[in-house]
Amino acid sequence: MMSNARRPIVGGNWKMNTDLASAVELADDVVASCGAFVDRCDIAVFPPFPYLQAVGRTLGHHGIILGAQSVYHQPDGAFTGEVSTDMLLDLNVGMVIIGHSERRHVIGETDELINRKLHAALDAGLQVLLCVGETIEQREAGQTSRVNISQLMAGLRGIQAGHMQRIVLAYEPVWAIGTGRTAGPADAQSVHTILRATLGDLYDGGLADSVRIQYGGSVRPGNAMELIAQPDIDGFLVGGSSLKAEEFTAIVRAAAESHV
Ligand code: PGA
Repeated sequence: MMSNARRPIVGGNWKMNTDLASAVELADDVVASCGAFVDRCDIAVFPPFPYLQAVGRTLGHHGIILGAQSVYHQPDGAFTGEVSTDMLLDLNVGMVIIGHSERRHVIGETDELINRKLHAALDAGLQVLLCVGETIEQREAGQTSRVNISQLMAGLRGIQAGHMQRIVLAYEPVWAIGTGRTAGPADAQSVHTILRATLGDLYDGGLADSVRIQYGGSVRPGNAMELIAQPDIDGFLVGGSSLKAEEFTAIVRAAAESHV
């Protein structure tokens, strides 16, 4: 099956949580409990900016990817509060989240800004986790497909096929993030199919089959297995459950074991 050719990938998005000591402790626990799965599953953690260096040291060379939750597209200059791609590379960051719904809907990032950030991150050699997803109002108005296709197309504007291997998509319905409500496996699968078909239209079928698409939004140990069993769900972006090493590990295990 096509989905088996795609290596699963699970990310832990710590958001604006932890302090220095608990971030290091969590990273330490993730290394201890997830290290056994790195041969079968890509694993990334996304701590807050101030803790990237300490968490990076703790992750060491055990194969877990150090990720950042955001980045700015300008290389340097008068951009108070922002962080550049070079700063992330200095700290051995390998991956960056772009287009997360909290950046879109709480901070106010536009499709155009997201696209600029994507170009900058790819040009710098980073891997990118590009998030898309509809709000509850959009879902109830029957706009789920339109919103996800349009966010995907706007995010990828001008991105060459050769860069697509460094992009992972994440479908994160906004109404499922941090709410305890999860998209049912069939609902999630249907949006993943639409996203993959859109990649086929933008590039080609072979490329579309090779890009990994994560699901995110209240993923827990109890629902990870049924979600990952869907043919177009290739992993997870985990918020709340990534703050508990045990829960995160159970989710990683579900993803790692789905492809054996
Ligand atoms: P959640 O967050 O797992 O807490 O719903 C997911 C995300 O925002 O990436």
